[in-house]
Amino acid sequence: MWGGRFSTGPGAIMQEINASIGFDYRLAAQDIAGSRAHAAMLAKQGIISADDAAAIDRGLVAILGEIEAGTFAFSAALEDIHMNVESRLSDLIGEPAGRLHTARSRNDQVAVDFRLWVRDTVDMLDAGLADLQRAFAEKARNHAEAVMPGFTHLQSAQPVTFGHHMLAYAEMIGRDRGRFADARARLNESPLGAAALAGTSFPIDRAMTARALGFDRPTANSLDSVADRDFVLEVLAAASICAVHLSRLAEEIVLWATPQFGFAHLSDQFSTGSSIMPQKRNPDAAELVRGKAGRVIGALTGLLIVMKGLPLAYSKDMQEDKEGTFDALDALALCVVATAGMVRDLQPDEARMEASAGSGYATATDLADWLVRRLGLPFRRAHHVTGRIVALASERGVALEALSLADLQGVEAAITEDVFAVLGVRQSVASRTSYGGTAPANVHQQAEAWLERLGPGY
Ligand code: ARG
Repeated sequence: MWGGRFSTGPGAIMQEINASIGFDYRLAAQDIAGSRAHAAMLAKQGIISADDAAAIDRGLVAILGEIEAGTFAFSAALEDIHMNVESRLSDLIGEPAGRLHTARSRNDQVAVDFRLWVRDTVDMLDAGLADLQRAFAEKARNHAEAVMPGFTHLQSAQPVTFGHHMLAYAEMIGRDRGRFADARARLNESPLGAAALAGTSFPIDRAMTARALGFDRPTANSLDSVADRDFVLEVLAAASICAVHLSRLAEEIVLWATPQFGFAHLSDQFSTGSSIMPQKRNPDAAELVRGKAGRVIGALTGLLIVMKGLPLAYSKDMQEDKEGTFDALDALALCVVATAGMVRDLQPDEARMEASAGSGYATATDLADWLVRRLGLPFRRAHHVTGRIVALASERGVALEALSLADLQGVEAAITEDVFAVLGVRQSVASRTSYGGTAPANVHQQAEAWLERLGPGY
């Protein structure tokens, strides 16, 4: 493909370090789509003949068929997907194949291919994330009343509802989808026609190829077009944040599934056993979702480091953009599906969560709020009084509601019998009706709103 000024081919090690076909074969469909758009444009602009363009198009369609059928013979000697396709095109149609690369370089070609691949993958991820949100919203609707301990510092803080906890994740995934959508909108420009780095002297129509490939417009600067990998970095950044969200839930599932917490149960479908300890039920899928966040974040940092020292425009370093991206987005797609499966599978133990929700004096804030509302105490003073009551209960080793009215009045004389109504965990969550609060009424409303917005998913 480029041997004119060379007398021998590359050495074996040169070929080994240089070849990307072992992974960029995954860009085949996008490469062929880009070439078909390019050939049609060249013909329309009178740069190649209509006959040549027709032969090229027929050949490219045949090659796509071979690749899909698994009969295409990829060759490392041909370096990458671009030259593998072009060489096969030459086998199939002869001389016209040599005209396809007019007014184009592999530098703009790979930028087009990879943008298209990333765009397709973002669309696929978005569908998976929407389904995951649906799983959260369904769980929330089914367990809107279930009370569980809410934690800060992983210490019992205030009772919350399990549905509210599920919807917290629906929000996070909503922001993830927004980040992917933003990245998609920015990446949707066509670098095709930037050629090697400077543009071309041929009278090409970049708007035509951009349109044919579903891009919003051509990129404006040819140097930037072949040197830019922001579009991957942004998607990997969005993917990393998303992976962190999935990992945090995975960690919670791991905790909930322990006999010590016992908040929720995963069925046999999402549990594995131990080869030595017969009693074990391990939440391996959750652990792997948590673990795979590492490779997603690794791909982002890896590519940032590849890019940080590169002068304009293209350098071969940039070939290192692909493997990490493929690996990271494959991993994330799998994690999204596995997480949706786990969320649907997860059976909260409502009785156990509710019993645990009151431990650790989780309704102390409700008591303090009562002192403010009923007795008109300043909140700081109410906080202090409540602290003394908690200390008393703690000394006796009992829950707040197990103290007698006389005990409470010993700390604050004005306390009356109806304080006991706010010390229960159900009362506590039901009272938290402020916008965005944990009350079951809010959770029902928000779960329904999510399900309405997300639609049925088919
Ligand atoms: N395989 C190359 C890559 O992925 C394609 C571009 C090669 N360009 C070049 N000038 N050698 O980056």
